Amino acid sequence: MATTHEQLRLDYNNMMAEFVGEHGFSPDDIQALSAKVRAATAAMKDKRAKGLMDWRDLPHNQAAVADDILAYVASKADGFEAFVVLGIGGSALGPMAVQQAINHPYYNELPREKRGGFPKFYVVDNVDPERLVYLFNIIEPEKCLFNVISKSGSTSETMSQFMIIKQMLEDKLGQDARRNIVCTTDSEKGNLIKIAKQEGYKTFIIPSGVGGRFSELTPVGLLPAAFAGIDIRALLAGAAFMDKMCEADDISQNSAHMYGLLNYIAMQKAMPMSVMMPYADSLKFIADWYAQLWAESLGKKFDNGGNVVNVGPTPVKALGVTDQHSQVQLYVEGPYDKIVVFIGVDEYRETVTIPTIYGDIPSLGFLGGVTHNRLITAMQHSTEYALMANGRPNMTITLPRVNEFTLGQLLYFFEVATGFAGELLNIDAFDQPGVEEGKNATYAMFGRPGYEDKKKELDARPAKKDSYVI
Ligand code: PA5
Repeated sequence: MATTHEQLRLDYNNMMAEFVGEHGFSPDDIQALSAKVRAATAAMKDKRAKGLMDWRDLPHNQAAVADDILAYVASKADGFEAFVVLGIGGSALGPMAVQQAINHPYYNELPREKRGGFPKFYVVDNVDPERLVYLFNIIEPEKCLFNVISKSGSTSETMSQFMIIKQMLEDKLGQDARRNIVCTTDSEKGNLIKIAKQEGYKTFIIPSGVGGRFSELTPVGLLPAAFAGIDIRALLAGAAFMDKMCEADDISQNSAHMYGLLNYIAMQKAMPMSVMMPYADSLKFIADWYAQLWAESLGKKFDNGGNVVNVGPTPVKALGVTDQHSQVQLYVEGPYDKIVVFIGVDEYRETVTIPTIYGDIPSLGFLGGVTHNRLITAMQHSTEYALMANGRPNMTITLPRVNEFTLGQLLYFFEVATGFAGELLNIDAFDQPGVEEGKNATYAMFGRPGYEDKKKELDARPAKKDSYVI
């Protein structure tokens, strides 16, 4: 199945000084970091061997899980009109990104047979009351399967959604409500697993050593994907294929490590902004998923030695060509504080040809007979060129096609790049104390037992001044 024909490519020519001038990197910049690169490569291997990076093994150890998921989906998919994910952050962004990448952009509007017989697909990843109410305007909860996803089993956003829906279902269905709920959580920790056991919900397990944003290749991502008719075995196969490439010690042969290194050098050269700009609507949400992976993993106060470092790149989401008419002006002429990463596609799944009309109007006639496929790619290359000509470092990741196999590669590529960048930065890429701080403040505000000290801390914060409110 794995052929080089389907292999993701990283082109970093335009990161180099020979193309972009003084803000670009020289081979010496890369060479100067070779000892650090060797240490980071060794640390990645060592941590994997010691079981400290369990997400690295997911492409290889989820086969039986995938079988269970597919059997469950086969038994359930017919029975429901919609599959609804309740989750947030690492428990929602991956399912959204994969569904959007693989499926029809108007999936839910298609008649069921054109969805392969699968239910409609929704993700609710916020506690905006309008969103939930509006969802209930278009779905009937008793005809939906709700997938509650929470690794910790305690995230207020997800658990509150679960509580609302459970009550709603029980009011309508009584004891049968449990058929409409499936949980994805840790095997032991947190409230969700306890509730699931007590109340008899079907449950899929997130391996304990895999953190939220690295969990897309566990049931967190695999179950929703399977319910949307996506080939989860091919997704895992793509990730396994990329894993093989990520084993190379030589960084010039290891695209994920090279990507991490180039970003690290950019940060050292005062270019901490990192724009992710896919030239495919289907990959728009990959930029959202990546933004969380990159920001939450690499934005850290302390290094591994406990020193305050306050490091981290700032991911920015953009979409080509749409944001050529919105953000690219800034990227071409604004401050030299960023790099731009394009994601291109060799072969789009559809072809659209512009009719040969208006031949007498030269400014329109040149478009006649051109495909949108050529147009979008030309616009991507033109933007790459404009950035290069203005001395702006940029690089391009290309997928031969968007399918489960290439998407599996892309997801795994970014995860490995993130882990490697974390090693170079000498920080823990797998915790998120800044997120916990906000979660704890919420618990304290609502008087959750155990958060009394945090409540005192919050109550002691300076009162806001009316003079600063206009
Ligand atoms: O990456 C992470 O760990 C976080 O973004 C979590 O995924 C997010 O906070 C949701 O957590 P949980 O799955 O425990 O509800």
